[in-house]
Amino acid sequence: MAWHAPNLDRLPELPLLQAQGLGFSYPLHRRWPWSVPEQRAVLHDVSFTLHTGRSLGIVGASGSGKSTLARLVMALLQPATGSVRLLGRTLHTLAPSALRQARRNMQMVFQDPYSSLDPRQRIERIVTEPLRALGQAIHPTAQREQAAQVLAQVGLRSSDLDKYPHQFSGGQRQRIAIARALITQPLLIVADEPVSALDVSVQAQVLNLLIDLQQQHGLGYLLISHDLAVVQHLCDEVLVLDQGRVVERGAPQALFSDPRHPCTQALVQAVPQIDPGRARRRQTLRQRIANTGDENLPAHHRPLVG
Ligand SMILES: Nc1ncnc2c1ncn2[C@@H]1O[C@H](COP(=O)(O)OP(=O)(O)OP(=O)(O)O)[C@@H](O)[C@H]1O
Ligand SMILES: [Mg+2]
Repeated sequence: MAWHAPNLDRLPELPLLQAQGLGFSYPLHRRWPWSVPEQRAVLHDVSFTLHTGRSLGIVGASGSGKSTLARLVMALLQPATGSVRLLGRTLHTLAPSALRQARRNMQMVFQDPYSSLDPRQRIERIVTEPLRALGQAIHPTAQREQAAQVLAQVGLRSSDLDKYPHQFSGGQRQRIAIARALITQPLLIVADEPVSALDVSVQAQVLNLLIDLQQQHGLGYLLISHDLAVVQHLCDEVLVLDQGRVVERGAPQALFSDPRHPCTQALVQAVPQIDPGRARRRQTLRQRIANTGDENLPAHHRPLVG
């Protein structure tokens, strides 16, 4: 099936991302060459809808299937059951060339900015890599211009284009990873633990950047995080995964202040900052974000929380 560019007038009424009854199993090693490979089911009947400009958080214990879900959404894995639709199009039925075009609208930000940026490439080449992955021929001057534009959006300078990843701090590297995600002007960003590898003060800067970019570009975020305070700050809705199943969902504030499922209760208990009724502790992330001062960030990246 071909990928048709979405009619922008219809975007508000069309869900950006829709997962329906998603199931997935990893094949296990065969015991013998002739034996039938066993399957390990890791996701069962996961459904959700994400609209443009909104954020959906996915939380759950380690091994609950969060990253697998992200890979299914990015069409890096084929679902065993159910479907993922981006702007109404079922991704896994698209022809490879159409899928490449659909990928323009969705980009991923990974957890570790140290391993996700190729150390041998200059920043200009790194941030323009998604354009080459789309098979797009770009003139070197245009490439440099686009790269400089996205770097400016994440608070870095065009003089950074000729540097290598090792010349940047962890927070700056994650901003470069975000710039790389922005270069195709996506509508959806899937972020798998985007701040958990960063120092707490830097986390706040990156979170502010994500919020600002969402407000400027109407991005939809699928945010995976084990930090419930991050999810509470950034997301409109949250799903709790337990052993591949959605066991609870709702607005983060309500869900975390009155968790019903034992798994959600365990997650809340593990994070003292959002212990319900302890306003002083809950202040921590708000303060972290409000107090963020980064001279590298342009004026529109001022903290949003007061
Ligand atoms: N390539 C693979 N082959 C086989 N099993 C896998 C593979 N990748 C993940 N799994 C298994 O699938 C389950 C879900 O893994 P996944 O990485 O999605 O969890 P997660 O929720 O992202 O965990 P974490 O919070 O630790 O990142 C785990 O039990 C894991 O061992
Ligand atoms: Mg994971």
